[in-house]
Amino acid sequence: MIQFKNPILVTGVAGFIGFSLTKKLLLDGHNIVGIDNLNSYYDKSLKLSRLAELKKFIKKGLNSFEFYEISIEDNKKINDLFNTYRFSKVIHLAAQAGVRYSISNPYAYFQSNLVGFGNILESIRKNKVSNFIFASSSSVYGGNRKLPFMELDNVDHPISLYAATKKSNELMAHSYSHLYDIPTTGLRFFTVYGPWGRPDMAPMIFTKSILENKKIKIFNNGKLRRDFTFIDDIVEGIFRCSYKPAESSKKKGKYSTTAPFKVFNIGCGKPTELMDFIKVLEQKLEKVAEKEFLPMQQGDVLETWANTDALENWINFSPKTSIEDGVDTFIEWYIDYYKSEK
Ligand SMILES: NC(=O)c1ccc[n+]([C@@H]2O[C@H](COP(=O)([O-])OP(=O)(O)OC[C@H]3O[C@@H](n4cnc5c(N)ncnc54)[C@H](O)[C@@H]3O)[C@@H](O)[C@H]2O)c1
Repeated sequence: MIQFKNPILVTGVAGFIGFSLTKKLLLDGHNIVGIDNLNSYYDKSLKLSRLAELKKFIKKGLNSFEFYEISIEDNKKINDLFNTYRFSKVIHLAAQAGVRYSISNPYAYFQSNLVGFGNILESIRKNKVSNFIFASSSSVYGGNRKLPFMELDNVDHPISLYAATKKSNELMAHSYSHLYDIPTTGLRFFTVYGPWGRPDMAPMIFTKSILENKKIKIFNNGKLRRDFTFIDDIVEGIFRCSYKPAESSKKKGKYSTTAPFKVFNIGCGKPTELMDFIKVLEQKLEKVAEKEFLPMQQGDVLETWANTDALENWINFSPKTSIEDGVDTFIEWYIDYYKSEK
């Protein structure tokens, strides 16, 4: 193993958000160690292409990127990695994602999101990491009807196992932050889309089907609203948090302890009707989608909407990219990457 100066650990580096963030960190001159188990939850070749793309951002003498195919479930390998690199910043994005998949494959979530998360926490404790950032999710709000969602809202009623594991991560991380004084930030991402996106999520599924003249499946007869958030905004938010570790507060807040622990929503702050999102896709693709309307799916929530005041106050930034601009950039990438014709 080569020793780099002050490397940042990014877990889930071959994933959508991990890859996009790493690109930005490399451009900013950081040394990055990335890990991923390259599982086949979705097309592995997309993960490999993202890793190949990252190589283009390595500039000799300016930054470095080292990749290891490691599972966070493998405690020994995780321990060895931390012992070798002595990370001071850790951005933990590796997880089994997806709400619907968690209903048919619960063990993938127990293993990656609970056991794996615990392994990361233990290594962070032993190595005195000074800034720990991890991915939570808007899904923790479950079936909450009070909108927009705020960080202090009750999130004790997850409606999918995925959401339950993400809420558990927040609780586990808080206890470590409190016990061992670890500066920790949890980010609740709201439906992220954009170039190099996830093939299991609606924007990619719809685009593929529309281009291939196949029917798109629309759940709850289209009566769903999502706070779609463009990837560059998510990356900017994580990036700024990477420069601003959570601090202990002297006085106890309504629900918090004095631990150096923060949880923020990171969403566009503007929910879009699913049917309106589809309309924008149709306009950009210059094709009308064939639609199949279906009932609500188990585990799905009706609506997500982020209040981002806390994030804005903390890092002077909240996502702003419009659906029109975001979809434009996404479609341009999709057509180029998959060489599809409109
Ligand atoms: N994309 C979104 O809209 C969204 C919304 C809310 C939360 N999140 C969370 O953000 C994080 C990143 O999501 P993403 O959209 O980039 O998903 P992704 O699936 O593209 O990326 C996750 C990566 O983690 C890797 N991984 C999974 N289990 C692993 C394990 N046991 N060991 C090592 N690597 C493992 C996968 O191979 C994948 O490359 C996840 O924690 C996800 O739950 C994403």
